[in-house]
Amino acid sequence: MDRPKMIAPAEGKLGVLLPGMGAVATTFIAGVEAVRKGGGLPIGSVTQMGTIRLGKRTEGRSPHIKDFIPLASLNQLVFAGWDIFTDNVHDAAIRAGVLRPELLARLRPELEAISPMPAVFDRHYVKRLDGPNVKKGANWRELADQLGDDIASFKHRGGCDRLVMIWCGSTEIHMVPSEVHQTLERFERGLAERDPAISPSMVYAYAAIKAGIPYANGAPNLSADIPALMDFAHDRGVPLVGKDFKTGQTLMKTILAPGLKARMLGIQGWFSTNILGNRDGEVLDDPESFKTKEESKLSVLEHILQPEVYPDLYDGLYHKVRINYYPPRGDNKEGWDNIDIFGWLGYPMQIKIDFLCRDSILAAPLVLDIALFLDLAARSGWRGIQEWMSFFFKSPMHAPGLYPEHDLFIQLMKLKNTLRFLMGEECITHLGNEYYD
Ligand SMILES: NC(=O)c1ccc[n+]([C@@H]2O[C@H](COP(=O)([O-])OP(=O)(O)OC[C@H]3O[C@@H](n4cnc5c(N)ncnc54)[C@H](O)[C@@H]3O)[C@@H](O)[C@H]2O)c1
Repeated sequence: MDRPKMIAPAEGKLGVLLPGMGAVATTFIAGVEAVRKGGGLPIGSVTQMGTIRLGKRTEGRSPHIKDFIPLASLNQLVFAGWDIFTDNVHDAAIRAGVLRPELLARLRPELEAISPMPAVFDRHYVKRLDGPNVKKGANWRELADQLGDDIASFKHRGGCDRLVMIWCGSTEIHMVPSEVHQTLERFERGLAERDPAISPSMVYAYAAIKAGIPYANGAPNLSADIPALMDFAHDRGVPLVGKDFKTGQTLMKTILAPGLKARMLGIQGWFSTNILGNRDGEVLDDPESFKTKEESKLSVLEHILQPEVYPDLYDGLYHKVRINYYPPRGDNKEGWDNIDIFGWLGYPMQIKIDFLCRDSILAAPLVLDIALFLDLAARSGWRGIQEWMSFFFKSPMHAPGLYPEHDLFIQLMKLKNTLRFLMGEECITHLGNEYYD
């Protein structure tokens, strides 16, 4: 990716399209509305709260990220989306039970004004759900065209200058890339034939790319992570990013594992279990959807700890992840980790974590940051996979032949250096020997 000669200004309205208007999407929209009205701070959002050091430590230049790079502001955002249920955003947020009813009552007119458009959906891919708000069409191609019409009419209706799309829909069943996913030509034939290896989230991704709209995947299912759509995005000049928002237990894992590894402490086993009772938990109760999530959650330790480089410390590490659907807990997930570590001469120790988190409270700021950075990437003329945004994802998309970078701190350094590079500032290596000349 070259430094752009110019970054198009962030003028006018930015439309954020959300396939899946459940707990995460409604917490995001209501949160942005609340912040606009002075009803809370966008905590957890790097674009809104973060700063970036520029130049030497002696220069004292650390502007807020949003003042350093030309990002759309919260006041420029407008929202639309699709869901298989007809509830407007206010009612869906009440149902999700994440935000307090008093807050939602204050935002009611804005939230009630947004109702989901009929979804592209098939129960084969999300076994635990069924709803009435679903498009009809002879094949995937017709359904993709209908999404294209929705996108065009929202762009007009919402007066949007630019759009981004972020999949906040349920986790689909486990699928692996197959022949129909290899080339755009083959994929488009599959759309016309309603090939079962194409899932609804792929149809949304295709429709977005076709319309020239940057696309992100917040769930672990394949969606755009297939050669046909990666090539399509590259050729169409569209930025792509994914997969699976990095929140909760995996966030903790990618904070802690690099620290243990930095001190060359060994790990014998890492057992993670969760209880959660929201709709996401219900969907993940289906073994086929859980398998998609499990793969995403399991991959992080292997890449961070590099057992092939450090066999004495991490070879044979036993890593287990469980998710248990437990309705009384709603969105307030509880995640337990037991980590069996060892130190000097192999002496064993244990770490226990009990994280009483709020899933969608952690995910909402990621949706905001991803929307704003994807739009920045598009205005900078960047295309295809945006690996510098790995910071936000459990299973970062990456170029073929590379391994994904999971270490949160390397990811943050990469993100900030990318912003410095974009704006023509020097990248920071933290070498710092010039201070001692
Ligand atoms: N909350 C988190 O911390 C977190 C973290 C990582 C990933 N995720 C993923 O984000 C997604 C959303 O999570 P959530 O908690 O909002 O779940 P949710 O169940 O509350 O919302 C998902 C919504 O998607 C809708 N949906 C399903 N298939 C659809 C389709 N084909 N088209 C349109 N709508 C569709 C469902 O009806 C539901 O309303 C899930 O896949 C989840 O695994 C969430």
